[in-house]
Amino acid sequence: MNILILGSGGREHVLGWKLKQSPNAGTLFFAPGNAGTADIGQNVDITAETADTKTVDAIDYFCRHNDVELIVVGPEDPLSHGIVDRLECSGRFVFGPCKDAALIESDKAFSKKIMRAASIPTAEARIFGHADGALDYVREHETPVVVKAAGLAKGKGVIVCDDAQQAEQAVETIMVDRAFGDAGDQVVIEERLIGQELSVLALVDGRNLFVLEPAQDHKQIGEGDTGPNTGGMGAYTPTPLVDNGLMATIEREILVAIVDALRRDGVTYKGVLYAGLMLTAGGPKVIEFNCRFGDPEVQPLMMRMQGDLLDIILACCQGGLCEVDLTWRPGCCCCVVMASGGYPGKYETGKPITGIDDAAADPDVTVFHAGTRRDGKGQLVTAGGRVLDVCAMGRDLREARDKANAACAKIHFDGAYYRRDIGFRVMG
Ligand code: AMP
Ligand code: GLY
Repeated sequence: MNILILGSGGREHVLGWKLKQSPNAGTLFFAPGNAGTADIGQNVDITAETADTKTVDAIDYFCRHNDVELIVVGPEDPLSHGIVDRLECSGRFVFGPCKDAALIESDKAFSKKIMRAASIPTAEARIFGHADGALDYVREHETPVVVKAAGLAKGKGVIVCDDAQQAEQAVETIMVDRAFGDAGDQVVIEERLIGQELSVLALVDGRNLFVLEPAQDHKQIGEGDTGPNTGGMGAYTPTPLVDNGLMATIEREILVAIVDALRRDGVTYKGVLYAGLMLTAGGPKVIEFNCRFGDPEVQPLMMRMQGDLLDIILACCQGGLCEVDLTWRPGCCCCVVMASGGYPGKYETGKPITGIDDAAADPDVTVFHAGTRRDGKGQLVTAGGRVLDVCAMGRDLREARDKANAACAKIHFDGAYYRRDIGFRVMG
């Protein structure tokens, strides 16, 4: 079966790497892909950030002429624009939720309302469509809040505030300065939760769920979880933060509950359901739902997953997840993200990258590409904020992280930055 993967990051590289291991996988195509995906398949010059007619027609035409029978949608933007609804047709599977289901990520106000209606534990919140109301609210509110642009903002539309002054500034940034454009038409202002963060992802086939092993992501740029949020600077799985009992609670009260709530509204959820949780003193609470694999959580998850990802994805598309059985490689996998100097602010690209082969010589290490490309001379160069995802297996988290860090130390590009402390919150 020929497969087209939409997207260009580390998530798409690792999904391709895992799909390629399936005996039933034919040619892998990536649109637009990166330098890493070009090594395991063919990159196609189509970028799908929306689902407009031109994009959809280009993908449809490509699939018809290359016998593509499965399209895997990586990022949230095309999902939120309804690319699955528009590409689905007979003879072809499209993996990902439909537009109405993707609202759980693309509209934080919608997500908050449906969670409230279904009694899913989440931070208390108020939703505002005008800056005046939002400003009055934060001035009077005594405890710390988090101000969120309701729409999609590449993971940057969330501002965690220490006091009312910062919250006012956050409202101004989002609603008056419109730093995230239309995504800031509404803001969600919620109580600031305290606790450990946890990512729990599940595969969903419309009715059944298969919950993946729990992971922890480190979103902030600086060691010790300091500085501004990024798309994710590293992740590991499994995490000792949750036991089987707590995972069962999360499955029942959060994951199953949201799929059921959507179904009651006439929306069938298929694809990946990602719950970003805070483990508070009052139990797990939802910070956000995402409608796709988390990046960089999916890299260590795929490194440990034992099973045929193609079978699993097709089972999701066809409603057969209850037949799927997958197991997990013992031990731990840690992914350390190597980023461009300056990220998540301004950074330069086009820096030559060396040392990947040396780093990946350790059989426990695999390096996935995120923001990379080949220049005119065929030299591998940086092409984004997050550049490489360096993953290592170990008997435990410490060993996995040490190996990942050692591998990072062998890779060079001008301005390279990575956190050496991934997993520190559970390592003592
Ligand atoms: P989100 O994009 O909604 O996941 O938010 C990005 C990050 O902001 C999360 O990973 C948390 O670190 C932080 N955050 C979001 N909401 C809250 C909250 N209610 N309380 C504390 N931190 C939060
Ligand atoms: N790792 C966080 C995300 O993918 O949203």
